Amino acid sequence: MRPLANGHPVSPPTGRPGHAEPAHPLEWPVYDDGVAARVTELITRGRTFDYDYGSELAELERSFAERHGRTHALALTSGTAGLLAAYFALGVGPGDEVIVPDLTFFSTASPLFLLGAVPVLCDAGDASGNVDPAAVEALVGPRTVAIAVTHLWGHSCDMDALRAVASRHGLALVEDCSHAHGSTFRSRPVGSMGDIAVFSVGGRKLVSGGMGGMLLTDSEDVFARACLLTNFRHRTDLTIDAARYEPFLLTGLGGNFRISTPGAVLAQSHLDRLDELVERRVTNMSALSAGLGRLPGVRPSPVADGVTMGAWYDGVVEVTPECPFSRDELVAAGQARGLKVRAPATRPLHVFPLFQGAAPDWSPQVAAAVRAAAAVNDRPFPRSAELFARWMKLPVNFLWEENSPLVGAYLDAFDDAFSMARTA
Ligand SMILES: Cc1ncc(COP(=O)(O)O)c(C=O)c1O
Repeated sequence: MRPLANGHPVSPPTGRPGHAEPAHPLEWPVYDDGVAARVTELITRGRTFDYDYGSELAELERSFAERHGRTHALALTSGTAGLLAAYFALGVGPGDEVIVPDLTFFSTASPLFLLGAVPVLCDAGDASGNVDPAAVEALVGPRTVAIAVTHLWGHSCDMDALRAVASRHGLALVEDCSHAHGSTFRSRPVGSMGDIAVFSVGGRKLVSGGMGGMLLTDSEDVFARACLLTNFRHRTDLTIDAARYEPFLLTGLGGNFRISTPGAVLAQSHLDRLDELVERRVTNMSALSAGLGRLPGVRPSPVADGVTMGAWYDGVVEVTPECPFSRDELVAAGQARGLKVRAPATRPLHVFPLFQGAAPDWSPQVAAAVRAAAAVNDRPFPRSAELFARWMKLPVNFLWEENSPLVGAYLDAFDDAFSMARTA
C-alpha cells in the first residue's frame, strides 16, 4: 500500500514535469468503520455463512424489495447468478430466443447459453448506448420468449416503450440494473419496472457486498423457481409457500448461489446510504461530464428526459471526430497526466468469440445455442461499434467523496492537454 497524504494514497510521479498528478482516494467500494466492526463480529462468532434465513439476509432482501416497491427479493452470489436464475425462473430453454443489448456486460446474455437458449443482439440506439425499443421490436420472431435490457452506465432505458413492446408480443421483460443503482425513469426506480430485475451487488458497484447479486420480482412463481435454483433447505422451505414446489424444497434444483453473511452486511451498509452516495456521485459526475463537454469534440453522455442518474457505473464521455485527439490519444494524454481514464471494459458482445460461434465441444446443449446465436447475430452492429470506439471511461470509482477535488483537477489536466494540442 502506498503512503497516505491527507487520507489519499500518493500516486507515483508522471512524465509531465511541473504538473502535479491528482491524488486519488481509495477506489470504490469503500466501507465505514461501523460495518467493518460488524463484519469482524460476524467472523468472531463464526457467522460467515447462512444455510437458513438469518436476519442479515432477510434484512438485505427486505430493504431491496421495499426500496423498489417489489414483493420478492432474492440475495445471491452475483449479478450473473441472478441473471441465470431469472432466465431459469422464466422457463427459458433450448432454442428459445431472448433479445439482449449488444452493448452490455456479457453476463446479461451469457447465462442463456447454459440453458441452451439463444441471445439475439440488438444494436445500440441513442448516444447513451441503450437499445431503441423500435429496434428491439424489429428483432421479435417466433422463438422470442423474453427481452432483457441493461440500463447502460446508469441511463434508464425507456421502460414504458419496452413494456409496450413486451405486452404486444406476450414477452417477459428483464431489467439488468447492475450499472444503475438509484437511477429512475419517470420517477420510478430502475428495478421496479421489469417482470424481473437483477442487480449486481458486487465488485465496484455502488452497492457492493464484495460479491453479490439481487433478483427482484412481484411473481411468487418466479421467486420460488429462482430460489430453488440457487438454494436448498432450509432457505427454500423457510421462504417458499406454494405446495407445487414442495418436492424440491430439500434438494433445490442444482445450485447453491447464496450471498455470504458478511457480504450481505457490507451490501446493506451501502444500501442504507444509497441516496447520499448517489447524490455525491451524480454531483461529481455531472460536473465532470459537463466540464469536459465544453472541450471541442467531447460529448457528455446525454441524460434523456424523465431519467435521473444513479450509480453512473463506468460512466463515459464520447470523443467525436471534431476533437483534436482521437479517443486513444485523449486517453493517453490523460494518463500521462496521472488521470485514471481509459477505454471502457464493457465492450459490444458481438466482438467476443463466445458470441461469434466459439462453441464448447464438451457440452452439446451449450454448443448448439452458441452456434445458433452466431448465425442469428451474423450482421453488423454499427452504432455499438462506433460508440465503443469513441467512449472514454471517467474515473467514476474515485468520485465518491462530497464535492470531489478530482473534478477540478481532471478539468485542469484536460485543459492543459487541449492547450498543448493547440500550440503544437
Ligand atoms: C450490466 C452488468 N450485468 C451483469 C453483471 C454481472 O455482475 P456480477 O459481476 O455481480 O456477476 C455486471 C458486472 O459488471 C454488469 O455490469
